[in-house]
Amino acid sequence: MYKMFIENVHLDSNERLCSDPAADAIFQILSGARNFKLLMHALEIGLFDEIAVFGEPITAETAAKKFQFNAASFRRFLDTLVAMGLLKKEVSMKGRELYSNSSGTSKYLTRCRKPTLIAAALMESNFVMPMLDILPLALKTGSSSINVMGTKKGVNTDKMDNVSNKPPQNTPPEMNEQKSADKLMKFLLCMDGMAQPCAPSLVRAFDLSAHRNVVDLGGGSGSIALELARTYPQTNVTIYDLPHVIQMAQKIQRDVPSHVTFQGGNFFEEDLPDADLYIFAHVLHDWEEEKVDILLEKVHDKLPPGGSLLVLEKVLNERRDGPLLTVTSDLIMSLISKGKERTESEYRKLFSKHGFSNTCVKTIEGVNYYDAILTKKPFC
Ligand SMILES: C[S@@+](CC[C@H](N)C(=O)[O-])C[C@H]1O[C@@H](n2cnc3c(N)ncnc32)[C@H](O)[C@@H]1O
Repeated sequence: MYKMFIENVHLDSNERLCSDPAADAIFQILSGARNFKLLMHALEIGLFDEIAVFGEPITAETAAKKFQFNAASFRRFLDTLVAMGLLKKEVSMKGRELYSNSSGTSKYLTRCRKPTLIAAALMESNFVMPMLDILPLALKTGSSSINVMGTKKGVNTDKMDNVSNKPPQNTPPEMNEQKSADKLMKFLLCMDGMAQPCAPSLVRAFDLSAHRNVVDLGGGSGSIALELARTYPQTNVTIYDLPHVIQMAQKIQRDVPSHVTFQGGNFFEEDLPDADLYIFAHVLHDWEEEKVDILLEKVHDKLPPGGSLLVLEKVLNERRDGPLLTVTSDLIMSLISKGKERTESEYRKLFSKHGFSNTCVKTIEGVNYYDAILTKKPFC
């Protein structure tokens, strides 16, 4: 008995008693699930906006009054958000505990500021979580059953809020139109929020200053292209996407510099605008191999010798078991599309099959959805 006890005692590197490290990953996953729920509640009641509008650190009592909540319970909620890194707590000279938004929360989780990860949180909650319910079925059949990216229309936003198989309701067409416009807006804002924290690093991963005409194919909200335009003011930048997406992107982006243009079109069906640098950001991973081949062939044909293709996708490690966000993205791709995430060697092989060379990969460190891959059309 004593021996058993000794065997199960764990010490950390400083010889301090600790719990069994074999349970750590499990507890982390369990607490992640709780934390996500708590974040969604905070967003739902508009807590971070209320704190931002208040303009100065706020006591739990004042905040509780605003929401008509019980002050003692609310304080515990606020302290949990502090522990999660979403709020900060400081103690005033008079010994009062004051709460304010953390810098990440101010930047990404308040509605008064753009960029926002609120849309990404809603997408997780309203789309990804319910979609994962069908995982056992998808594992059985081995095929994707939710088609988010339609071949012609691009984003099929009908599936975004709800993935249950409810029959369509009898609603007037203009209401349906409004509904799908709202969903498209949510999708673009989600992509926008996911791209924004990386965009400055992505456009600086390689020196792109020699390029004069850049076209971001499937540019979505245009946030990456706009960051590129700000970084390389001598370059003409075109944000290219399906016409209805472009209309929406123009509503999202204000203060667009004169060297940036929006162009609607279908990259499968139409001639591509001229460029010496094309970008595919989170586009190649959406499509099956044959469609990826069509896109790469079109881009290669259009590029002048010496022209470049910048692919912005998170690269899987060669064992396909990391980074975690990318592995889960790959699993989700298998549910919603025929696309997939790729390893560095898979990208290299893909590009060289289409005549590209000098492929370079730059990892964007941190927790994010993008790395940068530059590949070239050789001079001869
Ligand atoms: C996953 S989103 C990526 C958006 C953006 N590049 C980003 O990284 O945030 C894929 C984009 O490809 C666009 N797309 C899909 N099919 C298209 C087509 N046939 N022609 C042009 N764009 C298309 C979608 O509308 C969508 O904006």
